[in-house]
Amino acid sequence: MALRFGEKTVLDGVNLEVWPGERLVVMGQSGSGKSTLLRLILGILIPTAGEVRLSGRKLSGLSRRQLNEIRQRVGMVYQYSALISSLSVRDNLALPLEELTRKKRDEIDQLIGEKLESVGMSGAETKLPSELSGGMRKRVSLARALMNEPELVLYDEPSAGLDPVISTVIDELIISTSERTRAASVIVTHEMESAFRVATRMAMLYQGKIILDGKPEEFKESKDPVVAQFIAGSTEGPIGEGIEDERKAEDNPRGRRGRRRRE
Ligand SMILES: Nc1ncnc2c1ncn2[C@@H]1O[C@H](COP(=O)(O)OP(=O)(O)O)[C@@H](O)[C@H]1O
Ligand SMILES: [Mg+2]
Repeated sequence: MALRFGEKTVLDGVNLEVWPGERLVVMGQSGSGKSTLLRLILGILIPTAGEVRLSGRKLSGLSRRQLNEIRQRVGMVYQYSALISSLSVRDNLALPLEELTRKKRDEIDQLIGEKLESVGMSGAETKLPSELSGGMRKRVSLARALMNEPELVLYDEPSAGLDPVISTVIDELIISTSERTRAASVIVTHEMESAFRVATRMAMLYQGKIILDGKPEEFKESKDPVVAQFIAGSTEGPIGEGIEDERKAEDNPRGRRGRRRRE
């Protein structure tokens, strides 16, 4: 599969499969196309070449109704939780079901109770997002992603903006959720500790390609200079030499070195 924005090729020849119960961690530098990959899986973007399949069904060429139906099988946890600030936790969780299904209010409220309990947030229904900590918002965001009992759960940088202790708690929640539901998970991150904690499989994106796809041990032992540099968070190595990288560094206030450091 490939994706271009105009002249710019973001992904090129990416080929990934993920199976029930797996937790695939996709790693890559800032700007390497990780969020773009998730948008392709969600069907928000259409690949320039190739295809995306969910449970064997191609996402392109579907009617809007079919696409909505198939999208309900995918849950997404956005980078900064993306809860609607003017709505209570209850209404945030109810929204996708009220829009996309014909479930009754009672049924929806019961589901909300169950999902909140599963992420350790029982009783938070009436709270507003602003009354919750970053970690709690992340839990609520996961509860929302689970409302439709998805077969696939996508996480975009789940530790972004969280302190290390809370990140570990969220990682453990990702693991327990995947073990309980047996859904497939795709977790995008550039946080190495977190990556090794949650992954059953890893894939690394570099210059639009998956340069390694394998077990965490294969990544630890990899002699590929890009993989080794990325895992070590080192400034020595091939990453960060291209003109492309210089350009991206300008988008990042912390500069080209800080960008690679652990948050
Ligand atoms: N809608 C878009 N139009 C043009 N370029 C885009 C668009 N979305 C993302 N890009 C570019 O694609 C590249 C990958 O972006 P992204 O997937 O957000 O990276 P990551 O999530 O790995 O940081 C970046 O260079 C970004 O500028
Ligand atoms: Mg991103």
